[in-house]
Amino acid sequence: MISHRIAFKALRGLRLALFDRLSQIPQGYLVENPIGRVRTLLVDRVSSLEDWIAHVMPEAPGRLSVPLVSLIALFVIDWRVGFAARAPVPLVIVGMGIMMAGYESRMYLWMGSKAALAARAAEYIQGIPVIKAFLQEDASFSRYAKSALLYQDTTMAWWKQSWLGSGVMNAAMNSPLLAVVPVAFVLYGAGELDIFRLALCLTLPIGILQHVFAIVHNFELFQMVVPIWDEITTLLRYPALDRPSATDRAELDPQQGVSFTDVHFSYTDGLEVLHGVNFTAEPGQVTALVGPSGSGKSTIARLIASFWDADQGSITLGGVDLRQIPLDQLMEEISYVSQDTYLFEGTIRDNIRLGRPDATDEEIEAASRAARCHDFIMKLPAGYEADAGEAGGALSGGERQRISIARALLKDAPIILLDEATSSVDPENEHEILRALDELTQGRTVISIAHRLSTVADADQILVIDDGRLVQTGTHDELAGTEGIYADFLAARRRAANWSMA
Ligand SMILES: Nc1ncnc2c1ncn2[C@@H]1O[C@H](COP(=O)(O)OP(=O)(O)O)[C@@H](O)[C@H]1O
Ligand SMILES: [Mg+2]
Repeated sequence: MISHRIAFKALRGLRLALFDRLSQIPQGYLVENPIGRVRTLLVDRVSSLEDWIAHVMPEAPGRLSVPLVSLIALFVIDWRVGFAARAPVPLVIVGMGIMMAGYESRMYLWMGSKAALAARAAEYIQGIPVIKAFLQEDASFSRYAKSALLYQDTTMAWWKQSWLGSGVMNAAMNSPLLAVVPVAFVLYGAGELDIFRLALCLTLPIGILQHVFAIVHNFELFQMVVPIWDEITTLLRYPALDRPSATDRAELDPQQGVSFTDVHFSYTDGLEVLHGVNFTAEPGQVTALVGPSGSGKSTIARLIASFWDADQGSITLGGVDLRQIPLDQLMEEISYVSQDTYLFEGTIRDNIRLGRPDATDEEIEAASRAARCHDFIMKLPAGYEADAGEAGGALSGGERQRISIARALLKDAPIILLDEATSSVDPENEHEILRALDELTQGRTVISIAHRLSTVADADQILVIDDGRLVQTGTHDELAGTEGIYADFLAARRRAANWSMA
């Protein structure tokens, strides 16, 4: 009981440490690692250490000493019986050698294919609606099936390679009396052993090999634990963002918004996606980022939210470099709504309240009104108590986005980052949400990545991003009258509108 308590305590501590690490390392880790893999690590991999802590370690002294003492006892009783008891040992060692050859590399292969299967399965299940819509069932299923087959192959290959070794080993271990019985009875017949010693000679060897068997099994467990421990320590040692501790709060100047100075950035693949970006987003203003897809707009928003650090140049907030601001403090400063909304299991009210846990119900409703979700929430049979997780699927994309905007508005942070936050909201509601945002802009820095050009016309400043560079800056009127990407966009939009009229 004690060893199990300790084991579960240790697993708890390990999971807490891993979660703690996840909160300190660049959030980009979660963007770059498939969720299935992270889940497998936190749940399955950690759990598989339980056997090791609860059984293997506490039982090891007994496992080792029982065979040793028994063997010594047999030698003391009669050295010939002692040798007979050891007869199967060389066979066990040979079998083990065959079984363990190349164990580690096969183990890694097998675990890799298992993790890939988990990731593919999650991807397949999450993607079913998309797959169905695009009639991609065969393609997507075959990817899942392929990883299942790979898992099967690596498992079978492993077994095939070890069956001979484990067969020899098991046979040898399960016949502890093979050599002892004849030797002991001959000695008994010759009068060299009395009946009590004979009884001991026939019972002691049984225990020896059982324990040896357990040790071998534990050795196998140990081999399995090594790569798991490797994976766990990789995350535990993942370099954290270099930030001051939560108590070292920075002195932020509310008169200054967000500023980029010559910011260069590349993702882990090393390809630079931002090539020296400079701009300032002032408090009290809406700064809109526009540009072709893939030009780096979301990357800019994620850098402000400290998902990663810039490679070169500096980003300041309230006049202070992001690297001097504790993450906790930064999170208080920023409301970030990305294009992928996430609603948690729980009621709609709980989901909005995440923005500010101490908010009253009235404040929640006010935020919902501003985000234009109050009306449709009231139409749900359970209203604000409706289950967002389960009903999440029943809510439209636009409704989910509006709930996450309500969450961000409730948070009431000085910096509001909207990354295509209204992309699924119908134009009418979008217009109203933007108007509500406008009212909230007082003193706040709003950085909005727009998906529709029509929504940026009122912005105080429009930044046109192209291929990781800031190519134009100005208001709508200024940019519309200047040759460049923005004017081209406008012309393309007019042409599209004419087409749809025609
Ligand atoms: N996690 C990532 N790893 C590697 N490259 C990425 C990642 N996310 C985005 N990119 C690349 O960075 C560039 C800019 O992407 P992004 O900022 O998302 O553009 P936008 O939001 O303007 O559409 C693109 O070339 C994209 O392929
Ligand atoms: Mg984007």
